[in-house]
Amino acid sequence: MTRSRASKPASVAITPQRMDFAFENVPRHWFAGDPVVTHFLNALSLTFPDGERFFVDSVRAYRDRISDPVQQKEISGFIGQEAMHSLEHNSFNEMLSAQGYEKEARGGQSLARKLIAAGQARMSKRMQLHATAALEHITAILAYRLLSDPALVNRMDPSVRDLWIWHAIEETEHKGVAFDLLMEVAPDYRDRVRTQLAASLALASYTTQYTWAFLKRDGIHRRPLVLARGLWRLFGINGLVSRTLPMWLRYFRPGFHPWEVDDSHLIAQWRHVLQEEKLASAA
Ligand SMILES: [Fe+2]
Ligand SMILES: [Fe+2]
Repeated sequence: MTRSRASKPASVAITPQRMDFAFENVPRHWFAGDPVVTHFLNALSLTFPDGERFFVDSVRAYRDRISDPVQQKEISGFIGQEAMHSLEHNSFNEMLSAQGYEKEARGGQSLARKLIAAGQARMSKRMQLHATAALEHITAILAYRLLSDPALVNRMDPSVRDLWIWHAIEETEHKGVAFDLLMEVAPDYRDRVRTQLAASLALASYTTQYTWAFLKRDGIHRRPLVLARGLWRLFGINGLVSRTLPMWLRYFRPGFHPWEVDDSHLIAQWRHVLQEEKLASAA
């Protein structure tokens, strides 16, 4: 649903939750047995622990400019949620090391850390907040892509599925926080466009590099049919990534706001699924 003056629906709360995922018996190709899609998502996960700490630092640097207690509460929720995402993806990445991808997992995380440190040294606080809002848009549209297509969720192995559902739910809950702060303190449109293009390019080149590194470790780089099938699943018609493109473009509209698409029904729907699964596993 498109709203004319967008803001977070009152029904959406931004509440951090500790999950303590165990990640037991995870198959190497946990997404539909497909190495390409699995490793694309693995490569994304390598960026999360440090990436989310960067988001928190960028938002913290400006929170003292906000006097509205509601917005302050949302910022606290955002910081708490991102801190939990860092922890859980850290354990996911350790699981990848234990699966035999130690070189890739450690190398990828160390490269992400270096790139982020270089970005923090080079960019002003303003531009860091712009980069955060830009990357938060990307996480929000990937979250929407996942939660709005149960077939995608069902292709994930149950050993890791809840991590991705939980992360996607929380990214949706707090998708407006960094953007709202940006609009208060540094709303320059040209900077917004420039930073989204640069951030998207950096993320695309990083994920390409590390998806390929994982694939090489498996020897899949020499299997053109497997590569072609995986690339089609990512970038073909109805692909995981290709279908996010129209939403990615929305960021370039001058009047854009993350909540102009109200996907809060997906939060309620998937929170319910997680709750049911928790009850089933406790029984
Ligand atoms: Fe996150
Ligand atoms: Fe986020």
